[in-house]
Parts: sequence; structure tokens; C-alpha cells
Amino acid sequence: MIKILFICLGNICRSPMAEFVFKDLVRKQGLEQNFIINSAATSTEEIGNTMHYGTRRKLEEKGIPYTEHTARQLIKKDYEKYDYLIGMEEKNIKNIIRIIGEDNKNKVFRLLDFTDKPKDIADPWYTGNFDITYNEISKGCIALLEYCKNKLLKA
Ligand code: 4NP
Repeated sequence: MIKILFICLGNICRSPMAEFVFKDLVRKQGLEQNFIINSAATSTEEIGNTMHYGTRRKLEEKGIPYTEHTARQLIKKDYEKYDYLIGMEEKNIKNIIRIIGEDNKNKVFRLLDFTDKPKDIADPWYTGNFDITYNEISKGCIALLEYCKNKLLKA
């Protein structure tokens, strides 16, 4: 079993998009029983709010199912509960560490660091561009799933 928590600033745009994209990939490969997948925010800005319309519209356009989502903030206990805490950008990583303390079990990663083009995923809340965000999240999730499948094989 691999437990993954996707994390961004608000938990209404990028991290829920990553959560549902990753769940869809996992479902299509028949691996659902091997994963627990969720998402959270580093900030308190959007707590209790649903996914951004741009994220919902993009998921619908791509035929990716999603369930009701309510933004929640990362808490220190999540570090014990999850195997991987996956941020979208370097600023998220700094804020994750601020909340959980030291990453002494090496669980904190940036999503695109699993790809051959490591970089931050721009925030569509500011850019308004959900296409670029979706394409990058999709690439990151595909690479992360390959990484996880190797871990499952070795487990
Ligand atoms: P997200 O985008 O981190 O991808 O969910 C944002 C959503 C809300 C805010 C910032 C970023 N905000 O400041 O409220």
C-alpha cells in the first residue's frame, strides 16, 4: 500500500487536479487497492471550499471523474499518515516543511522532479492557464506512478 498526499497552496486548483488525475491513472491500471490518494493545502485561504471551476472544467474535458472535494490544510500528523507528500512548487515544499518539521524520512517531493523536466508547476489561480497546468500535472502523475509501481514490485 502506498499513501500519497498531493499538496499546493490553496487545495482548490493544482493538488485536487493531481489527486483526481492520479486516481484515474491508478484506476485504469487496476491498481486501486494499492493506493490511498488525497490532497491538502499549505495555506488556510481556501479551507472548506470546493475545487476551482477551471480545475473541474479541465477534468470534465479530459473525461476524468472526480468526487466532492473540500479544501483542507496539511497537518503535522499527515507526515506519519502518508508515504509521499508531493508539492507542486518549491514554495510549497518550504511551507510543507514549516508545517511538518524536518523531512527526516525523505517523504517530501516536488511532482515534476519525477520527470526528466524538473520544475515548478505554475499556479493557475494566478496565471488563469489550466491547460499548461493540466499537461504538467499529467506528466508528473504518469512519472510518479511509474516510480510507485517499481516500489510496489520491490515490496
Ligand atoms: P492552488 O491555487 O494552490 O493551485 O489551489 C491557489 C488557490 C487559492 C489561492 C492561491 C492559490 N489563494 O490565495 O486563495
